[in-house]
Amino acid sequence: MATIRLSKVSKEFGTPGGLARGRAIPWMGRSGPEAREGEGDGDELEGVQALDRVDLTVPDGRTMAVLGPSGCGKSTLLRVISGLEADYSGDLYYDDQDMNDVPPRDRYIGMVFQNYALYPHFEGHGNLSFFFRLRKAPDEETEERIRVTSEIMGIGFNSLLQRKPGTLSGGQQQRVAIARAIVRRPRVFLFDEPLSNLDAKLRSQTRVEIKRLLNRFSITALYVTHDQTEAMALGDLVAVMRAGRIEQVGPFEEVRQRPANTFVAGFLGIPPMSLLHGAEVEEGGIAAGQGLRIVPAASQLQALSSGEKVTIGIPVESAKVSVDEGGSRPDAGEGPQSRGNRLQAMVESVEPDYGRQVQYIGFRSGGHSLVGQADVRERIAPGERIIAQFDESGFHFFDDESGDRLG
Ligand SMILES: Nc1ncnc2c1ncn2[C@@H]1O[C@H](COP(=O)(O)OP(=O)(O)OP(=O)(O)O)[C@@H](O)[C@H]1O
Ligand SMILES: [Mg+2]
Repeated sequence: MATIRLSKVSKEFGTPGGLARGRAIPWMGRSGPEAREGEGDGDELEGVQALDRVDLTVPDGRTMAVLGPSGCGKSTLLRVISGLEADYSGDLYYDDQDMNDVPPRDRYIGMVFQNYALYPHFEGHGNLSFFFRLRKAPDEETEERIRVTSEIMGIGFNSLLQRKPGTLSGGQQQRVAIARAIVRRPRVFLFDEPLSNLDAKLRSQTRVEIKRLLNRFSITALYVTHDQTEAMALGDLVAVMRAGRIEQVGPFEEVRQRPANTFVAGFLGIPPMSLLHGAEVEEGGIAAGQGLRIVPAASQLQALSSGEKVTIGIPVESAKVSVDEGGSRPDAGEGPQSRGNRLQAMVESVEPDYGRQVQYIGFRSGGHSLVGQADVRERIAPGERIIAQFDESGFHFFDDESGDRLG
């Protein structure tokens, strides 16, 4: 087990210059395989900064969920940690050991991918024992480890050991793949969207299984996913990535409640908070466009300066929606808009969440798309008029240009 630490790790794909800045890889010869590929063939590939000065620490025995949109560098991050991606700049440590020159097979990594990647010609048992055969481990030791592992994997796992991957379902194959990663007693577990090929029921079952394993072994783990529910359930910490950078790290709930910038604010939460860009601070309130006026609490307003351009964040639970009993009659003299954080609008979309007994109501106001919530039993349909009441204690404010959190 180990604390994993990355310091200023960068990885660029596709530019010979970028590759030249990388390191020489002792265990791969003078240059990595990619270095030979792109070099000097006149191919004018645009460089992709897959990792951009990443600083990240995963404490010993904890699970870090890595969340981010497609292409932001999540898999590249895991490949660097595992040693599969060798040509990068910056430093990687397991505890205090510099891993830059340590080949993948000596890092004791358990990896599980989206695609199960089992050896097709071995049964489950052969898949689990393959590593030990390579290392010429004694049979008794191998058998004992497989026995313990299948006990951990729970009911019905034993029967999978006699079958070849081709005869197993996706979920069953993934259980074998996870077992194969555990049986080696890794120092570090790396999961790259292991559940995304499974149907919803299997996904939640396997999620519980993985959680049990992580708890039982306290192995340092990185868990890459698109799915916030998974990140929440499995990660002690979450790291939110965008375009090769780590935007924020912390316990999920902390990050959700205090997003560092508009990207994180717009990414986390189901649904994420509404963001009202281009608003301007005035005397006693904030003009959010087309007559929409937001009134923050006095203490919030004090922290902002008049004339300042801000983005207002309104979490869905801070925008309570109810049917507009007054029908289509706008408030006299106020135009279609707002008073005291209460406004009238027309429903654009309705999405029930029966688990939480709420429905998410999409509407437009001041040229912005917003989402609020109502009790799931209220009859609200697209095209109808609603009243949205904002709770100012839930407001977030960001610098409108940089997107960084204010205060
Ligand atoms: N071998 C490669 N050659 C060139 N570019 C690559 C290579 N591998 C990844 N990239 C690019 O690097 C960026 C990061 O890719 P990566 O696979 O790490 O993203 P990801 O976050 O795992 O995405 P996804 O969620 O879709 O799996 C992407 O823009 C991708 O196109
Ligand atoms: Mg990926």
